[in-house]
Parts: sequence; structure tokens; C-alpha cells
Amino acid sequence: MVTDVSTGSAPGRKASRIGGRPATIASLATYVPPRLLTNADLEKMVDTTDDWILQRTGIRERHIVDPGVATSDLGKQAAIQAIANAGLTPADIGMVICGTVTPDMMFPSTACLIQHKIGAHHAWGFDLSAACSAFTYSLTTACQFVASGAHEHVLVVGADVMSSIIDYKDRATCVIFGDGAGAVVLRAGEPYELGAIGPFDLGSDGEGADLIKVPDRHSFFVMDGQKVFLRAITHMAKSAEAVLDKASMRLQDIDKFVYHQANARILYGVADQLGQPRGKFVRNIDLVGNTAASPCTNACRLPIDPMNASGNQLPLTVFSLHSVSPCRMCSKVSGFPLG
Ligand SMILES: CC(C)(COP(=O)(O)OP(=O)(O)OC[C@H]1O[C@@H](n2cnc3c(N)ncnc32)[C@H](O)[C@@H]1OP(=O)(O)O)[C@@H](O)C(=O)NCCC(=O)NCCS
Repeated sequence: MVTDVSTGSAPGRKASRIGGRPATIASLATYVPPRLLTNADLEKMVDTTDDWILQRTGIRERHIVDPGVATSDLGKQAAIQAIANAGLTPADIGMVICGTVTPDMMFPSTACLIQHKIGAHHAWGFDLSAACSAFTYSLTTACQFVASGAHEHVLVVGADVMSSIIDYKDRATCVIFGDGAGAVVLRAGEPYELGAIGPFDLGSDGEGADLIKVPDRHSFFVMDGQKVFLRAITHMAKSAEAVLDKASMRLQDIDKFVYHQANARILYGVADQLGQPRGKFVRNIDLVGNTAASPCTNACRLPIDPMNASGNQLPLTVFSLHSVSPCRMCSKVSGFPLG
């Protein structure tokens, strides 16, 4: 669908996406630590091959932190860049939400640590724990604070040091995850301007709690990969259809689909189920792996530059199983014209 940039109107779309003031993504930035963990490295650690990993996941390499680097350090890097990209200073930020399942400490929150590290002295904040759904859950939560008029600028960070909860003797999980962070700045905007966000399609389902979890603070991440794989495709496809319906849009109106990147084959499965070309699904999982709270932003970064001011529509869809409370979650954010 083409958005009329001059009038800000989008004929045919249902009016209200969230109550109150519309929220707009002002900027986006991502960060991954410099250290690489390649498939060749993993071949030396567990019984696997580069070929298997590439064929079954689409991942070639992922970034992991050096000892002593924490989630707030990754989040800080993405946050500073996002604020600069928005033409703001940390003092302009009223609130910080950090989506993470690998907080630096039990408390204070990682959001609070980021707030201090970037010098956002006027901001308050909290962490949001929803595993791979954390970015979209945080984004939709932040939207409410902009919509209500409580804040003009909210910083949303999705950051995880997944390497801190992965068992590098478990070949079924250690090949998938990488460390990284993404950040966006939300501001009040106009309903159909470039960057306007919404509608949302959010959900939770505790039925699959045992399929993917970190059962306690001393345990590693465990997952029933095959079952997660199949559920992911079904829910991500259904969710895209639901959110497009809310936006009065059709699949063919969408130029690029930016999904949570858990496995390249999941994206292909969703594309096939929706009857959409696989090339419309933005991917950089080959270079970053699954970065839990931040792959959406990692993927988002790719189409933003080349599509500058094009007004193309990108639904963001995230699928995840909640890792802390016993919930299976699907969360989606859609109708996201980037400029
Ligand atoms: C984990 C995942 C990559 C495994 O791929 P898969 O094709 O389902 O593989 P399976 O689990 O069926 O295992 C097939 C075989 O490969 C083996 N295998 C598993 N990991 C392996 C590895 N790293 N290297 C080589 N062989 C491996 C299994 O032991 C199994 O061997 P068997 O047939 O002798 O029993 C895939 O299931 C997946 O991506 N699941 C979803 C992950 C996800 O979305 N997580 C959510 C996080 S947000």
C-alpha cells in the first residue's frame, strides 16, 4: 500500500490503531559485540558441522560477548546510537523499557543501568521479560506511554547476552543463539506518517510452557526444537493475517516482512504458508543468529536505508515462547511504514 506522504493519509485503512496519540518510530539502531563465534568454532566444541547448521538454521556465524560484558553494555551502545539517530540527547528521554531475559542482575533493572550508563537523567524505566517477544512487547508497552501523553520520547531496548544461558555442550541449542541489542526511540506522531506504528496483534498461551524455557536461575536454556519450529510457523502466519486485517491491508500490499529471526527455515515456512515470495522476508540471521530480544531490530536495520522515504509498509512480527512465566507467546506489531 502506498501512503500519501503529503497528506499523511492512507485511504481505506481503519482509523485508530492505538488509543490516544499515535506513536511513531523516530529512529532505530543495533549493536552486536565484535567477537565472532563461527560454525567452524562450534564444530570444535560439539558434534556438529557447518553444513548441518547452515542447512537446518541458515546461520553461518553469531556474535558473543567477551567475559565481563553484560546486557546493559550492549543495550547502551544501541541506545546511544538510536538517540543520536533521532536527533535527540539522552536528556530528552522520559522513559526506558528494556526487553531482556538475561538481565545484568536480579535488580536493579537493566533499564535502570542503561538509563545511568547513557546519562538519561530524566528517565525512569523497567525491564520486560518475554524472551523473543520482548522487543514487540516493549514496543507496544512504550506506545501506550506515548499515546497517553505521559512521555514525548520513550527509549525501547531489546538486548540479550544469550551466551550466558546457553549450554555450549548442547548442540541442539548452542548453534542458534547470538548476543546483541537493538533500540528504537518512540515519539508522538501523526497517524499515517512514515514511521507510524500499529495496529498490534498480541497474544499469550501457556500451553507450550515446557517446550522452551530456562526453568530456574541456575539452569541453561532448554528447548524442544521441532515442536517449537512447527508452532512458530503456524502462529506467525496467522498473526500476520490478523494484523493485516486490523490494518485493512492485504498481503500483497506488504513490501517486506520483518519477522523475529529464530531460524531461516521458519521464515521460509511462514512465507510458503502465506503464499508470499521468500525474498520479501528480511533476513540477516546468517550473520547474527537468533539474538532473542533484538533480531527484529537487527533485521529492520537492513531495509531502512535502501528504502529511505519510500513509504513502504513493514509488519514486524515476533514469535516466541515465554521463558520465565509459563506462557507461550505470540506478539506482532504491524503497519510500520519506514522512511
Ligand atoms: C533446533 C532446530 C534447529 C533443530 O533442527 P531440526 O531440523 O528440527 O532437527 P531435529 O531436532 O529434528 O534433529 C534432527 C537430528 O539432528 C540432530 N542434531 C540436532 N542438533 C544438531 C547439530 N547442531 N548438529 C548436528 N546434528 C544435530 C538431532 O540429534 C537429530 O538426530 P537424530 O535424527 O539422530 O535423532 C530447529 O528445530 C529449530 O530451529 N527449532 C525452532 C527454534 C526456535 O524457534 N526457537 C525459538 C527461540 S525464540
